[in-house]
Amino acid sequence: MSTSPVALVTGAAAGIGRATALAYARAGCDVVVADIQETALAQLVKDLQIIGVDAIAITVDVSDIDAVRAMHKHIMERFGRLDYACNNAGVEGENAPTADSSLENYDRIMNINVRGLYACMQEQLAIMSAQGRGSIVNMASVAGLIGFPGLPAYCASKGAVVQITKTAAVEYAEQGVRVNAVCPGAIKTDMIDRITQQDPETEKQFAALHPMNRMGTSEEVANAVVFLSLPDASFITGQALAVDGGMVAR
Ligand SMILES: NC(=O)c1ccc[n+]([C@@H]2O[C@H](COP(=O)([O-])OP(=O)(O)OC[C@H]3O[C@@H](n4cnc5c(N)ncnc54)[C@H](O)[C@@H]3O)[C@@H](O)[C@H]2O)c1
Repeated sequence: MSTSPVALVTGAAAGIGRATALAYARAGCDVVVADIQETALAQLVKDLQIIGVDAIAITVDVSDIDAVRAMHKHIMERFGRLDYACNNAGVEGENAPTADSSLENYDRIMNINVRGLYACMQEQLAIMSAQGRGSIVNMASVAGLIGFPGLPAYCASKGAVVQITKTAAVEYAEQGVRVNAVCPGAIKTDMIDRITQQDPETEKQFAALHPMNRMGTSEEVANAVVFLSLPDASFITGQALAVDGGMVAR
């Protein structure tokens, strides 16, 4: 078995998750990529193998708790360790003000962004505390720190991710497990394209939310995830790091 650290990324088939998987590989990690999109995962595994690391894909819907448990069991059988996990899978759902947004949308978002992430974390914390080492980075959002009109359930879900992160960080600090969150601003991915409809005027408005007057890239978020994961961040736990061009500093 390889002695390289092993990193898991959920929601890895696209956007921030894909960039994070590639960044872990460039940092010398073997990588497990998980998503509901099987074909895109297969291509990503090829790209990871070109970098020279061991990589496998697991097709999983993080809201399917049995599948989440089976995934972590498989990782331990295949690699015998799990050093880093980035719980990134998430959906934005409908765009509508609170009174007009559906409870079906609320349930779907909470099931994937919170319950699914929570179930992943439970497996990871059990594995990592038994190992006596590990680092988890949860993908929250600036929408977990400030309000965003039209995305009430999404904001609620990301606020929950920040609080789940802080609680687990305190609970597992003495067991060698660090838990942090990253809170991206608007990052140019398929998700943001769905929200802006790629309308140039809307994109300009989104860019202007950030003091840097631009959207971020998936790679800029991935760099923060890898920094928080690796021993460079050995005294950092329980943080919700905004990667947002200064948005929440305003
Ligand atoms: N793009 C942004 O502006 C932005 C900002 C803040 C936070 N985020 C968060 O970053 C994460 C990634 O966002 P992105 O912009 O790359 O989105 P994206 O839609 O481009 O990619 C999300 C990936 O997650 C996968 N996924 C969705 N539901 C899943 C499920 N139930 N199980 C497994 N995989 C699933 C999708 O198939 C896709 O590959 C999300 O949690 C999102 O909320 C994004």
